[in-house]
Order: sequence, then structure tokens, then C-alpha cells
Amino acid sequence: MSGSYKIDNSLIPNHIAIIMDGNGRWAKSKGMPRVLGHREGVKTVREITETCAELGVKYLTLFAFSTENWNRPEYEVNALMTLIVNTIDNELKNLMKNNIKLEAIGDISALPSKSYNSLIKGIEDTKDNDRMTLVLALNYSGRWDIVNAANMLAHDHAENRLDEKDFKMYLSTAKYPDPELIIRTSGELRISNFLLWEAAYSEFYFTDIKWPDFKKESLYEAIYDYQHRERRFGKTSEQVNK
Ligand code: IPE
Ligand code: IPE
Ligand code: MG
Repeated sequence: MSGSYKIDNSLIPNHIAIIMDGNGRWAKSKGMPRVLGHREGVKTVREITETCAELGVKYLTLFAFSTENWNRPEYEVNALMTLIVNTIDNELKNLMKNNIKLEAIGDISALPSKSYNSLIKGIEDTKDNDRMTLVLALNYSGRWDIVNAANMLAHDHAENRLDEKDFKMYLSTAKYPDPELIIRTSGELRISNFLLWEAAYSEFYFTDIKWPDFKKESLYEAIYDYQHRERRFGKTSEQVNK
């Protein structure tokens, strides 16, 4: 039992994916530069990562930088890239202490070399941790992943027909279950090129809270809400309640 939202510990999602949005507006509302919003957002990343591990979530995917985010002003892109390096370097000890494995999806080869190297070191150093996998979506977009998969597939299977399971094996998320729950903060009601294939039957949770203010209790509320939905996967309510 956790916080004021009574979470059922037997119904914790295996995989939670989060579109961490609203850092810029959070900062603006306080008269601060956007970049300080991103810095504040890192604190939320730490708190939500640790809370998910405590709750027994096995995979947490965080949308940290989309393919389209390269189109932001150069100084903001640079600040985000620097923040990624610093955060991974600083958090490595905590990831080890909490037995959390770091992985990434997206075209990380296009990141600046400092960010890329920190990321690879973080992934390498934590590869034997097994309590929870934290997946950072970096230079990621759902369409990029689908096209990337199609290209690899065309190469491997020129002759054969494939089903959905075969196709999933080519996505960068192949080894992760589809997220049961996708959270987006800051009041935006869209998917912004996040897990397009994987979200086919995810439950969506939208909140007006901006990412830097999304705390432990906000996550409990999201999971509580999720636990009170009926997931029907195309069937009738009567069928799933048999
Ligand atoms: C989310 O916050 C972080 C990233 C996209 C990197 P934003 O920077 O999108 O914040 P808003 O949406 O402008 O408030
Ligand atoms: C989505 O947020 C990407 C991340 C959270 C990294 P954006 O702020 O980039 O999305 P849009 O532009 O509002 O759709
Ligand atoms: Mg945004």
C-alpha cells in the first residue's frame, strides 16, 4: 500500500512509458530560462525511476529526446546533450546501488560523442543489474524505428511473409513487453512520435502536471487510475470478466 492512493501491488504494470513533457513551460511560469526546467526535470527522473523500482515495475521507458527535438534552438539542444552526459555520469552510482540496468532506444550513434560515450559507459557498467531496466529514448521516434525495422527486415527476409510477432523483433524495443501504461505530463493530448507500434493497446494517462512537478504521489495516482480500467483488447466486457 503506498501513499494516499491504495495501489494493488499484484497489478503493477510491467512496463511504464512516460512522455516527460512541460519542462520549458514549468521554467517559463517561474520566469526562468527553459534550460533550468530541464535541470529540474532530472530530479523527477530520479524520483520516478526509484519509485518504479520500489513498486516492482520491470521496464521504465522515458522519452528524453525525440528525432524532432533537433529542430529546437541550438543552445537548448546543446544544453540537453550536456545534461544527458552529466546526469548519466552523476546517476551511475545510484543506478548501481538500486540494481537498475540502463538501456537506450533511438539512433544514439547521432548523439554528440560525449553524450554517446557516457551513455555507452552507463549501459556497459549496469548491464548485469536486474531489478529494473530503465530505457532512455534518445534521438528516438516511433516512425524512425518502424522504418529502421523495415529496412533490416527487407535485408533478412526478401522472400518470406512476416507476422506481427516477427516484425516486432526488428524494432528497437524487441526485448521489452509493450507498455501497459503510457503517461504524458503537462496537459498535451498527443503521442508525438513515441512508441507508435507498441502503444497499440496501452492505457493512456494524461495529467496537467508539468514534468518537474510530477512526483511519487503523481505516479501512484496514475497507477491507481490504470488499475481501475478494464482492458478489453477488442473483446466485450462480458468476455474479459468471465
Ligand atoms: C520536455 O519538456 C523535455 C523535452 C522535450 C526534451 P519540453 O522542453 O518539451 O517543455 P515544454 O513542452 O516546452 O513546456
Ligand atoms: C515529446 O515532447 C518528446 C519528449 C518528451 C522528449 P515535445 O515537447 O517534443 O512534443 P511536442 O512538440 O509538444 O509534440
Ligand atoms: Mg514539450
